[in-house]
Amino acid sequence: MRPFKLDERLLMGIQKIDQQHNQFVDLLNRMVVSLHHPYAEEEMEHLIIELSDFARHHFDTEEELLRDINFPKIRDHSIAHIRFDNKVKIFSDSLLVQNTNFDQFVLFNFKWLENHIKSFDTDYYKYVTKHNLLDDLKKKFAL
Ligand SMILES: [Fe+2]
Ligand SMILES: [Fe+2]
Repeated sequence: MRPFKLDERLLMGIQKIDQQHNQFVDLLNRMVVSLHHPYAEEEMEHLIIELSDFARHHFDTEEELLRDINFPKIRDHSIAHIRFDNKVKIFSDSLLVQNTNFDQFVLFNFKWLENHIKSFDTDYYKYVTKHNLLDDLKKKFAL
């Protein structure tokens, strides 16, 4: 499997969010590397825990941003995040039982992230630009 890369058009110019999206992809790429190691299963278990913790951290940051801007669709967005948390949990539980299909798991994560940014995250980004909130957010969510 080749390393994943996020399309640059998906960057928002809000440093913390962009950096977290890229870190998310970096973690998935570490998983891809791990797939080729002889002791992949144990490594993958650690990486899956790291991924679900990191995803939650990113979702918390983003939901804070959405509250800051009084985003009207915050509930739907938060539900999409929770659904992802749950899917990762279900998937990782089944992986730990069967010890297979790690590549499917990694691919699912990347596709989910890409689609989520293209739909849900882009949706709040449009709201941000429409209401001239981008400069404030760039300051508040700088690194
Ligand atoms: Fe999101
Ligand atoms: Fe996001």
